[in-house]
Amino acid sequence: MQIEALLHGLPRERMALLPTPLHPLRRLSEALGGPEVWVKRDDLTGLGGGGNKLRKLELLLGDALRHGAQTVITTGAGQSNHARQTSAAAARCGLRSVLVLDGVGPAQRNGNLLLDGLFGADLRWAGDRSPQQVMAEVAAEEASVGRRAYVIPLGGSNAIGAAAYAAALVELLRQAEVAGVAFDVLVVACGSGGTLAGLLAGAAAQGWGARVIGIDVGALDDGLDTVVHELANLTSGLLRVRTGVAPGRVQIDHRWATPGYGVLTTAEREAITLLARLEGLLLDPVYTGRAMAGLMEMVRIGELVAGQRVLFWHTGGQPALYAYADRLL
Ligand SMILES: Cc1ncc(COP(=O)(O)O)c(C=O)c1O
Repeated sequence: MQIEALLHGLPRERMALLPTPLHPLRRLSEALGGPEVWVKRDDLTGLGGGGNKLRKLELLLGDALRHGAQTVITTGAGQSNHARQTSAAAARCGLRSVLVLDGVGPAQRNGNLLLDGLFGADLRWAGDRSPQQVMAEVAAEEASVGRRAYVIPLGGSNAIGAAAYAAALVELLRQAEVAGVAFDVLVVACGSGGTLAGLLAGAAAQGWGARVIGIDVGALDDGLDTVVHELANLTSGLLRVRTGVAPGRVQIDHRWATPGYGVLTTAEREAITLLARLEGLLLDPVYTGRAMAGLMEMVRIGELVAGQRVLFWHTGGQPALYAYADRLL
C-alpha cells in the first residue's frame, strides 16, 4: 500500500525529512553477540532538532491549519521533546505556540527548554494545577484576544498523530524490501503510546506479522496497554483500515518502567555510552536510552537471539542529554 493511499488526503504539512535512514548497527550487534540489530533514524527527521513527534505534527498541524488556528497549545514534562518539536513546527507554519509544562520550572533553561525559548514558545508552568485545566484557560485567553487555538494532547497521541506512525511503518517496510532485510522484532520506546499505536495500526494495514515491542518508559501512571490498544483501533478507523488491532498484538514491556519517568539509572547510562562509543550514535536519557537498555537486557537473558533481525526505532530526544550532563559520565 502507498502512504498517500493510507493517509487518503488527511491534511498534512510537510516538514520532516523523510524517509529517515535505515541502517545496521554492526559493531553493536557484534558486541552483544545475539541478533542482528538495525536502526530506523527518526532522530534525523530534521526540523528543530528532529525526533518522532515531527511525523505526528505534520498531520496535527495540517489539521490545526484546516481549522483556521493561529495558536497551538500542548503539554509535557519540563524536558519534553514533544513540546520542543511542537514549538519548532509551529514556528515553521507561522503559528504561535504555548507550552504548558509540568512543575515550576528549573533555575537554568537547558536542553529542550533552551530550544523552546529559541523557537519563540510562550511557556506556562502548571505547578500543582492540572495541565488540562491550564491548557483550557490558555485557549480561552487566546479566544478573548481573537486568536483561535488548537490543543494538541500530551505527546501528540490521538488518532491523527498516531496515523503518521502507521504511514511510517509503510515507509519502513518499503526500505526493508529495498535493503533485502526482513525484521523479526521491532523495539520502540513507549511514552504516551501514539507511536506504538500507529505502528500497530500500520502493521495491521500491511498484514505485517513481526513482533512489535513497546518499552514502557513510565510516562503514564497506569493503563498504558489499554490506551495503546484503543488508540491503535481508533487510528485504524481514521485510516479506514478494516483490519483492527487484536489485543494480543499490543506487547508493552513494563520491566524498565520501575525507576520512574525520566530517572536515569545505570542501565540507561550504559546503553547511552555503549552506543556512543561503538557506533557514534546518540541516544537520549529518557526514552531511547531506556528502550535500548531493554533491548540489550533482552539479548543478555536470551529473549532476543542470534539469527533474528531486530529493528530499533530511534525516536530522537538528544537535546535532553544536555539537561542530564551532570549525571551522564
Ligand atoms: C524521544 C522520544 N521517544 C519516544 C517517545 C514516545 O512516543 P509516544 O509518546 O508516542 O509513546 C517520545 C515522546 O515524547 C520521545 O520524546
